[in-house]
Amino acid sequence: MPRTTIPLQGRSHDAVLEDMGSFRSHDADYKNGRTWSLVYYTGEEHTDFLKKAHNLYFSENGLNPMAFKSLKRMESEVVQMAAGMMNAPDTAVGTMTSGGTESLLMAVKAARDRARKTKPWIRRPNMVVPKTIHVAFDKAAHYFDVKPIYVDVGPDYRADVKAMEKAINRNTILIAASAPQYVHVTIDPIEELGRIAEKKKIPFHVDGCFGGFMLPWLEKLGHTLPLWDFRVPGVTSISADLHKYGYASKGASVVVYRDMSYLKHQFFISTNWPGGIYASPSMPGTRPGGPIAAAWATMQALGESGYIELAKKALDTTKKLRAGIEAIPQLKLLGEFHMTAITWAASRDDISVFAIADMMAERGWGADRQQGPESVHLTVNANNWDAVDTYLADLAECAAHVESHPELAKEGEAAMYGMMAKVPIRGLVSHSVGKVMEAMYSPDGAQPDLTKMGQGDDDGMVMKLIGKYGDQAMDVLDKLNAMRPGGRA
Ligand SMILES: Cc1ncc(COP(=O)(O)O)c(C=O)c1O
Repeated sequence: MPRTTIPLQGRSHDAVLEDMGSFRSHDADYKNGRTWSLVYYTGEEHTDFLKKAHNLYFSENGLNPMAFKSLKRMESEVVQMAAGMMNAPDTAVGTMTSGGTESLLMAVKAARDRARKTKPWIRRPNMVVPKTIHVAFDKAAHYFDVKPIYVDVGPDYRADVKAMEKAINRNTILIAASAPQYVHVTIDPIEELGRIAEKKKIPFHVDGCFGGFMLPWLEKLGHTLPLWDFRVPGVTSISADLHKYGYASKGASVVVYRDMSYLKHQFFISTNWPGGIYASPSMPGTRPGGPIAAAWATMQALGESGYIELAKKALDTTKKLRAGIEAIPQLKLLGEFHMTAITWAASRDDISVFAIADMMAERGWGADRQQGPESVHLTVNANNWDAVDTYLADLAECAAHVESHPELAKEGEAAMYGMMAKVPIRGLVSHSVGKVMEAMYSPDGAQPDLTKMGQGDDDGMVMKLIGKYGDQAMDVLDKLNAMRPGGRA
């Protein structure tokens, strides 16, 4: 494909906007409630308001809070409102970030730099986390050279408190857990872990990126929940995403610390740059004003009552979905009912979740496939209510069809996802995924067809296995896995 170049002559606004409109035709259609992740849509009225708030600060740059005092004011107030929502003490401080990942990166960086000051003898810092912690911790480990010690979770998918305690050693600079973790939407035992963090005097981060802006309202609605926020004394920081259940525009999260003795280690200060003294609270240099403004505006406009109303609808939708899925014999729910999200899996090992997901995707449903165990994740919002009956009817049909057609597990994307989940040597999987990334970011930026991977010269071993041996490769993997201690086909 020829390279796209900057047009020699600028084009009319209408023509450009028309192009952009047409690009979207294959994107997920989140407005009709059939997409169960990525967008937290609450309707056109709120979206229009968000756009206005965002546009008011469209050009402003939070990089220099002295230049744009209004942005600094809004960021401080967003942090304060979030801190209050999470029952933080008056000493609580924090910053806004561009999203959950950045909030988590910052929590790890702050803990690492704090340990450098308070425990200078630590040469190889580590953090103890349950295996289900968000993958951004892996990214943080990678970026900041903090070794992650992953601890198995219990059969209920909650962090194993005793095992976490055992894993802590003199080089541990942070422990972390989730409220709730994304994969099985379950809240870890924060109170018990908090006691350990206090006893061992180690910072404890709670990843509330997903639940932070939902759990407080569920609690007010009388939904039974374990304690997860700053009411737990050992908790030293919490992240919560405004661009998820905070219903703000994308690019907005907060990381809140119990007091400045933690936050100060998040900051970056450089005094020797010829350009002058440079101080920055988080990862980026330039900080777009729009997301800060839209987050502040959302919190003001919705208020507690607005959040509670949306939470109630999402909760009712979740209840209806849970009841419907429980009634489908081929399926089961995973995890506790803590959150307005659902993880469903197959009730028997011989029913392929990924084949059901493929069929659902063909019918226009978003299907967020997970591998540990094979399952599908649904983030539920008020906006999904109208789609629930059709979703359940389609799901029941697809599950029954896949049960009677087990060969579907070896076709289409199901084969690829199935293989990826089953290959025991994860380095091979990583290599193949790397090849997919290279294809996506190649000079022509093509969108790879996952079902056709393996047919190129350098698509990686796993893809090649699928391409060349198809069903047989899957059978061999099944047998290999069954032979491993505790393995299952
Ligand atoms: C529990 C949890 N933590 C962190 C993140 C990362 O958030 P982001 O995608 O905004 O970086 C997510 C995203 O789904 C999440 O569910």
